[in-house]
Amino acid sequence: MTTNTRLRVFLALVLSGALSGAVAIGPVAADDDAPAGPDGVPTYIVRDGQVDKGTYNGFRRFHSVCHTCHGFDASGSSFAPPLVDSLKRLDYDQFKEVVINGRQNQGATGDKVMPSFGLDPNVVMHLDDIYRYLKARADGALPGGRPQRLGG
Ligand code: HEC
Repeated sequence: MTTNTRLRVFLALVLSGALSGAVAIGPVAADDDAPAGPDGVPTYIVRDGQVDKGTYNGFRRFHSVCHTCHGFDASGSSFAPPLVDSLKRLDYDQFKEVVINGRQNQGATGDKVMPSFGLDPNVVMHLDDIYRYLKARADGALPGGRPQRLGG
């Protein structure tokens, strides 16, 4: 396989992953126990400190990829802003845009870089769940720490 072919196969895999994620909103939501809102924005369920599957998955994904910069429980670090605050301001589309494309702060120091995760299947295929988790945190519905999964 040439490098080019390998790249194309990789992109195809990522793309099909992203598409099946989008198409599967119904079934995934049913399985997650937290339906998407009427506008297609993912929602979460928190009941007695227990969360739906999707939100729990988001908790796990966040703490495997994002927490190194954004801190445990999304509470921020010296590297990156607290997403518990950001998600009060950013809507779902803005959230996806930043995570997929990344962003470079052009401010005084200009040294803070949010990497692009658009080609990382560990992130792209779980964007909705990461959003669910962060939104639950931002809304104050979910305290820090490892949540329990509803029904399990
Ligand atoms: C290498 C460090 C690093 C990692 C890993 C990282 N980020 Fe970031 N992120 C940043 C920095 C730095 C910023 C601020 C960039 C700026 O202001 O230009 C940022 C900004 C953001 C923003 C916009 C915040 C706002 O207030 O506008 C979102 C949303 C975000 N990151 C989500 C994520 C998610 C989700 C993950 C995991 C998939 C992640 N980040 C992983 C460093 C990181």
